[in-house]
Amino acid sequence: MKNRAYLAAAVLAAVSFAFLQSAHVAAVHAAQSAQADSAKPAPTWSHDIAPIVYRRCASCHHPGGAGPFSLLTYADARRWGPQVMAVTQSHFMPPWLPEPGYGDFADVRRLSDHETELIRDWVKAGMAEGDAAQTPAPPHFDGGWVMGKPDLILKVERPYTLGASGTDVFRNFILPYPLAETHYIKAMQILPGTPQIVHHANITIDRTGSMRRQNPATWREGVTGMEMYVDAGNKFDPDSHFLFWKPDSPALVEPKGMPWRLDPGNDLILNMHLKPSGKPETLDAQVGLYFVDTGPTSQPMLISLERDDKLDIPAGAKDFVVTDELTLPIDVEVLGVYPHAHYLGHDMQGWAVLPSGEKKWLIWIRDWDIDRQSIYRYREPLMLPKGTVLHMRYSYDNSAGNVHNPHAPPVRVRAGNRSEDEMGHLWLQLLPAHADAGGPDPRLALEEAWMRSRVSKTPNDDVSLYNLGTALAGERKFDEAVRVYRGILRQTPHDARTLTSLGVALDGEGDLRGAEEQFRAAVSAGAPACDARFDLANLELRQQKVKNAEMDFRALMAACTPDAETHAGLAATLANEGRSDDAASEFGEALKLAPDNEAALVGIASIELDGNRADAAMEHLKHAVDVDGSSADAHEELARAYAMTGDQQKALEELRSAARLKPDDAQVHSALSQVLAAQGDLASAIEEQRTALRLAENDPDGWNNLGVMLLRSGKTVEAKAALERALHLQPDHAAARANLERLKNSGR
Ligand code: HEC
Repeated sequence: MKNRAYLAAAVLAAVSFAFLQSAHVAAVHAAQSAQADSAKPAPTWSHDIAPIVYRRCASCHHPGGAGPFSLLTYADARRWGPQVMAVTQSHFMPPWLPEPGYGDFADVRRLSDHETELIRDWVKAGMAEGDAAQTPAPPHFDGGWVMGKPDLILKVERPYTLGASGTDVFRNFILPYPLAETHYIKAMQILPGTPQIVHHANITIDRTGSMRRQNPATWREGVTGMEMYVDAGNKFDPDSHFLFWKPDSPALVEPKGMPWRLDPGNDLILNMHLKPSGKPETLDAQVGLYFVDTGPTSQPMLISLERDDKLDIPAGAKDFVVTDELTLPIDVEVLGVYPHAHYLGHDMQGWAVLPSGEKKWLIWIRDWDIDRQSIYRYREPLMLPKGTVLHMRYSYDNSAGNVHNPHAPPVRVRAGNRSEDEMGHLWLQLLPAHADAGGPDPRLALEEAWMRSRVSKTPNDDVSLYNLGTALAGERKFDEAVRVYRGILRQTPHDARTLTSLGVALDGEGDLRGAEEQFRAAVSAGAPACDARFDLANLELRQQKVKNAEMDFRALMAACTPDAETHAGLAATLANEGRSDDAASEFGEALKLAPDNEAALVGIASIELDGNRADAAMEHLKHAVDVDGSSADAHEELARAYAMTGDQQKALEELRSAARLKPDDAQVHSALSQVLAAQGDLASAIEEQRTALRLAENDPDGWNNLGVMLLRSGKTVEAKAALERALHLQPDHAAARANLERLKNSGR
């Protein structure tokens, strides 16, 4: 299939051929006139052209590359010279869709005016080689791993043979992640085996192996289809990276601090667009992954503008327009953009209108070509403040005049996943900016705004509704989440996942009875409902219904492959039942599966502290703080360990960390008060105890402690009131009674 630019180039090329028919006469003449005009020498291959071609063309135009011929030698370049001039003049080559001046992109392929002029002058002047010895060394392509040996190579399970001819094939190869621990990926390369048939690949992470489950008999040879739906799991874990691969950009390298993640049990799905090459070819793709030790320090998120529900393009329509917009709920930086349509997409625009009224272009493609689709990254992140409105406006050409139109004569086309259907998406990679360090994940606000927009367009879209509920719950807007989930359940009353999420939201609202009811409904809805079983057991544990919790954790273990969380949950239950040894061994099981599991590390350390083994506990707790510095429990227990070894100063520091992390925890403030009192800082100790009692006022021990400290600092009236309060709450509080007696006897 040829496009307009291509045809134009062919015409131009024909003209240049005619011009070169009388080659040396014209060449000599041109060379002379170039000399005479500007007194500068005509460009030569070795000095001027080879550097341009090596930098701008060779990545595709080398043997085995994505381009149809090689341009690595002077002889090659000379053979293709007239076409090279034509396609660079028209900017048909290098392939680059965005209109210059509408988005400032990194790795721009478009040639500068100076470069196209040099090429033109070189061809017109007869394509002189110049001093061959001065030609720079051509770049080297061996078709292997460009970043060295990958840390992990995944292979397609069964090679797939594509026929010699026929239409394009979209095929999803499922590559299970085989490792037992999480890794962060800083770069990825695909070696397709037969690059000539692979047009591009989209990579998706299937967090729950859902696609493999949906295609038990066929997943090894790959599943056909242009787009796929994978289950994202229950946690808010949005797609964050453009994993879009083309043969001309072998390695996908992520920006520093932004690796992506693979967990045990994940599958990588390689959605490949294959084009028959004229003979049968066997695809035996490998994916190379490069690891980095530390997780992401920045968490971007992908969102899309789209209006597929309005895509219904009459046959023959030349300028069918869809638009969409989305208001940003937070400040963001835009890192990249991926416009997408199929064969009828024509003029594609994306822009932002800032609250100040200023318009910033995100991208403009005037003549879309699906074969040239690409990700575009901005040279500098584009800062967009909260309140900015993102816009997309795509026009479609379904006339016979559209050279890409797959139908002759044109037919009505609607939205869909097959290549002859249409799509209109403007994907953006956004990085939240200026977010509160301690607040909820700022991407939740983006997700909420995005899903609200989707729901307003297609109110019965369960996936969007479910995602909206999850975002709301993540932002702790539990009552709204409950309403959304109940709305979904009116349509699909037995959906185990929605029932489970409703339970979690009700739990968040404090309706524990309601939560339990939903978890049980999810369990009896059929499917293994592992999450519901876990949440149920955990809820019981939190309510100190330890016998039920133990039973339900064991039922969960029987129904679902136990993970570290499950072992840790059962362990915590056993610890609550006073069965320290059994608990320690379950915590050990959890740590075998996930050595960094924070709950298990802290849990086992607590048992060790209870058994006066401060050293062992200290080791586990330091590890816990290393893996998760924001674990308040780890800091709190570490304080206990330090206090046990007599290091009050360190204990104080750890408690302060814990108090920063959970400022509303009365127990931490009480503990802090006691350490401060032990160090003699009575004033601060009293302050902390008062804070603790503001948070939990019905604590007789707390009032008694406050009374004692007030007494020591001479505040007898307040001390008396505090001790009386303790006795009021617990009339048989022996210490409070004794302290009150002493106060009275002292005659004050
Ligand atoms: C990103 C890969 C890529 C880069 C970079 C690239 N090309 Fe191409 N080139 C192709 C492909 C693929 C084709 C086949 C036509 C198509 O699919 O667009 C092609 C076709 C051509 C053609 C044949 C056009 C025709 O009329 O038949 C010429 C000439 C050409 N390229 C020259 C160049 C030059 C010169 C450069 C550098 C200035 C360059 N290309 C850079 C991928 C590339």
